[in-house]
Amino acid sequence: MDIIHISAECYPVAKAGGLGDVVGSLPRFQNELGHRSKVLMPMYRTPYLYSHDWEVVHKASTNLGHWEFDYTVIKEKTNAQGFELYLIDINGLLDRETVYGYDDDTERFCAFQIAALHWMNTWDKLPQVVHVHDHHAALVPFMMQHCYAFKRLQSIPTVLTIHNAQYQGAFSWNKTLYIPQWDSWKRGLLEWKGSINPLASGIKCSWKVNTVSNSYLHELSTMSNGLEQLFEYEKGKCTGILNGIDYTVWNPAHDKYLTDHFSILDAKAGKEKNKRILCERFGLDPQKPLFIFIGRLVGEKGADLLPQAIIDSFRFIGRKMNFLVLGNGNAATAAQLTTLQSIAQGDYNAFIGYNETLSHLMYAGADFLVMPSRVEPCGLNQLYAMRYGTIPVVRSTGGLKDTVIDIGEPGGYGITYNNATVGDITHGIYRAVSVYKQKEVFRSIREKIMVLDFSWHRSAEEYLSLYQSFQ
Ligand code: ADP
Ligand code: GLC
Repeated sequence: MDIIHISAECYPVAKAGGLGDVVGSLPRFQNELGHRSKVLMPMYRTPYLYSHDWEVVHKASTNLGHWEFDYTVIKEKTNAQGFELYLIDINGLLDRETVYGYDDDTERFCAFQIAALHWMNTWDKLPQVVHVHDHHAALVPFMMQHCYAFKRLQSIPTVLTIHNAQYQGAFSWNKTLYIPQWDSWKRGLLEWKGSINPLASGIKCSWKVNTVSNSYLHELSTMSNGLEQLFEYEKGKCTGILNGIDYTVWNPAHDKYLTDHFSILDAKAGKEKNKRILCERFGLDPQKPLFIFIGRLVGEKGADLLPQAIIDSFRFIGRKMNFLVLGNGNAATAAQLTTLQSIAQGDYNAFIGYNETLSHLMYAGADFLVMPSRVEPCGLNQLYAMRYGTIPVVRSTGGLKDTVIDIGEPGGYGITYNNATVGDITHGIYRAVSVYKQKEVFRSIREKIMVLDFSWHRSAEEYLSLYQSFQ
């Protein structure tokens, strides 16, 4: 099949979180199954752009409301990622160093989607599936079906993958001109609760919708930032497909970001070496169990609970463990995590920022990963951590519920708790410290998690069955 993924992120070109990892790997696995899957994304000014060779494949102009803009489509010449990779350049809008967080994000992603369809409209051979990801690309199904200019694309099946329903990209009807001329009877397909809501529109207009785990799919009908009724109404076309992870990138035996590689055969020694490097760099004690948190410092991840959970762990369990936090996001949480550095020196440290290299070293060198998420559609961190022999200590929600079984359950290999509260996190840490002390139990859990199979093979097949249901 001919498949095109339209997305705001794709690792290693540009990544802000797990969306980038998924779009950077799923298409390659689809191609390995004999299909032709490509990716179209904005041309940001990230290092990847300057370190690869590109050819211009299309140049044209189109409109965002009354503004006529030029756009250029470039293709990476060697298919270095294992799929055809196309970037759309729109000067003034997409030529930025990071993916999100600008005041004109609405204009940026509307123009990106319009240019994507404007270009696709010129293709001789149209794709068999247009697969869009999250709200930044979720107006595409509406535009294909109801904008006069894209009538030729009307009958191509569309799939929307929801990686995160918290973010919906809603904007005011004052900006209605951003949607190229459409049949105004179809207004209801754009609207949710008085605004143009791209994610809601994508759910209404896509042929199929999927989220990235089954448990998250079920949670959406009761907890989806205002879209609950819509999910309940549209549940017939929604499915859950768990993300896979890319073991060519995430493998402690040949991870390009590590200097000390290891496998299940020498996990103890290999992890100790990585732990020593980490502890030396961050002034921690390698004799104590090392707990890490890696992620966006936002409410969804429960990051605001971390400072108190760390303080309470020291207070109630004693200074028997170390913590290392890597994250960026909410300024107040970042400030608290920074303040804690002076209070808990020697047992705690934090790196506020985004650092891909450090994240790999942390998965490799840590003993436990803490993930107190309030909402977790899938979660990749726990999957990476397990591959690197780091035991997850997670709140049982969404994808965490589907991938981490508590050690108290038959076949279990992680530590789970029910509530995103300081008390539950601290209790999880207490249980982890007890496991760490029982060397044999600790070793056997580590060995178990390193061989769990969360590869893309199964999920890539599930996406293909979803597409094949259109034929
Ligand atoms: P989300 O997409 O909600 O942020 P996921 O668990 O799916 O959560 O994926 C997060 C991805 O982003 C992982 O690859 C993780 O290692 C990475 N990541 C998150 N924050 C940082 C950071 N500050 N520095 C480096 N990598 C990070
Ligand atoms: C999102 C979710 C995360 C998921 C990722 C990739 O950003 O928050 O849980 O793993 O997308 O699907």
